[in-house]
Amino acid sequence: MEQEKVIQIKDLKVYYKNHRKSPFSKKRKKQVLKGISLDVYEGEILGIAGESGCGKSTLAKAIVGMNKDIEGEISVKYTDTQMVFQDPYSSLNPSKKIGWLLEEPLRVDKEKNWTPKERKDKVLEIMKAIGLPQELLERYPSQLSGGQRQRVSIGVALMRSPKVIIADEPVSALDVTIQAQILQLLRQLHQEYGITILFISHDLRVIYQICDHVAIMKEGTIREYGIPHDVYRNPQSEYTKELLSAAGIR
Ligand SMILES: Nc1ncnc2c1ncn2[C@@H]1O[C@H](COP(=O)(O)OP(=O)(O)OP(=O)(O)O)[C@@H](O)[C@H]1O
Ligand SMILES: [Mg+2]
Repeated sequence: MEQEKVIQIKDLKVYYKNHRKSPFSKKRKKQVLKGISLDVYEGEILGIAGESGCGKSTLAKAIVGMNKDIEGEISVKYTDTQMVFQDPYSSLNPSKKIGWLLEEPLRVDKEKNWTPKERKDKVLEIMKAIGLPQELLERYPSQLSGGQRQRVSIGVALMRSPKVIIADEPVSALDVTIQAQILQLLRQLHQEYGITILFISHDLRVIYQICDHVAIMKEGTIREYGIPHDVYRNPQSEYTKELLSAAGIR
């Protein structure tokens, strides 16, 4: 799979402010990513795994420009990278109907002036792609199931045909059957639209199911990188071995 890189990260360091003076640290800021280098290839699903607090979301936010205090290099081939978050309920405005939420990225599109008819057609196309019936357009987020809400937030991310989606724990708030359906949806969208997906999860089994490459993070660094099949069968780092055995995989 010799492919073009859509994201190149070189020696990325990210810092957060220490808001309060802590008795444990007098430093004004703490370093959360400690020199990450990573390539994301066009059309792949790259999994990022690692324990809570290791910096997965920080990495995602740095890529989309939400973290400002950074050193190193991030080059992105496409600027329209979209994020899908863990908890669709907090990322969907509860006072707006589903149809409105899906249309919003088109209403605020600065590059293209979408006519109402074009917006409506695109909404219907995306509803089909995410596998939801049209009648849900008139409902509010609270009137959907968790899985339906996550489909909607994936739909919102898809509205402007992004080349890259970063999904930050997109299934971890859902129960197992619904998880499988959402994973199936992501895989299908990936195949149909050729979208590159950065898939963040602490679940190594889920990563195995859908990812072309996996990066294992710990304490702000990447400890291991490779094809899941190889990494799981023959892990090189002690930390990966620990994670795999904790997950009951080895
Ligand atoms: N806005 C912030 N200000 C200060 N510290 C932060 C901020 N966001 C995250 N952190 C800290 O940075 C570290 C990495 O957080 P991050 O959210 O990237 O972890 P994560 O790997 O996504 O964890 P999880 O699996 O729990 O989502 C943690 O120690 C966290 O407390
Ligand atoms: Mg996170």
